[in-house]
Amino acid sequence: MPNPALAYEQDNVPAIFGPCAERLLQLAPPGPGERALDVACGTGVIARKVAGAVGPSGSVAALDMNPDMLEVARAAAAAEGAVIDWREGTMDDLPFPDGDFDLVLCQHGLQFAPDRAAVMAEFHRVLRPGGRVAVCTWKELSRHPYLESLNGVVERCTGIPALVQPFSLHSAEEVAALLEGAGFQPPTLREETIEARFPDPEGYVAHEADVLVAALPALQHLDEGERERLSAGIVEGMGEAAAAATREGVLVVPFHAMLALATKP
Ligand SMILES: C[S@@+](CC[C@H](N)C(=O)[O-])C[C@H]1O[C@@H](n2cnc3c(N)ncnc32)[C@H](O)[C@@H]1O
Repeated sequence: MPNPALAYEQDNVPAIFGPCAERLLQLAPPGPGERALDVACGTGVIARKVAGAVGPSGSVAALDMNPDMLEVARAAAAAEGAVIDWREGTMDDLPFPDGDFDLVLCQHGLQFAPDRAAVMAEFHRVLRPGGRVAVCTWKELSRHPYLESLNGVVERCTGIPALVQPFSLHSAEEVAALLEGAGFQPPTLREETIEARFPDPEGYVAHEADVLVAALPALQHLDEGERERLSAGIVEGMGEAAAAATREGVLVVPFHAMLALATKP
């Protein structure tokens, strides 16, 4: 079976995570010569964009727990000529010394942490005084009707409501409390909507199971047979929701994101 993270990189990065990364980097622009860390990097969309911004006098490290994601990230960065220090690991135990970074970025990763306060303490620890942290999470699942339908289909196929977790850290107050609880200054918060457009709705729906298996730790244990059954279930179960969200042949799915930027005193 090909690496499922390829579907994530080919379908979801251009439509969702690339545009979201641009918004997050507008809020927290990396400067030339800075040392940056991308946590829960997936295929490294943030890390690759940051590598260009910090330039040869800066450095970028990126960490994810999923080796499939890192394999695709390494290949994509090599093709772009981006030099990045890729690490496999979990975000609650960052393999870096205290004060090692000027900027820590985490796009749609914090939602998955079993202990978010411990992760935030790690972000704080690896930043130098005056360093910035920028995080991005999704707003409520109830504001994403297409994804709510998908969650229902995934739960029927696997018994796991796997899309609840990525939408579980939607409160601005909760994100601010996590940041301030770890010792950061009160954050700047911003909400952004990304209108994801998929010009090949059938192809997108056919790849959805791979995308979910790559991105969601709750589904990473599925074996090949279970993945195939999930894929067939999604193709069958999402037809109506996809048709309802398709305009002139393009599947259009709005995603509502919350962005936060805070400084370590
Ligand atoms: C929705 S993807 C986002 C990836 C990337 N930040 C992006 O914007 O494309 C979530 C990522 O978080 C990673 N992840 C989830 N829990 C993690 C943990 N505890 N430690 C490290 N990575 C984790 C997953 O492996 C996955 O690559």
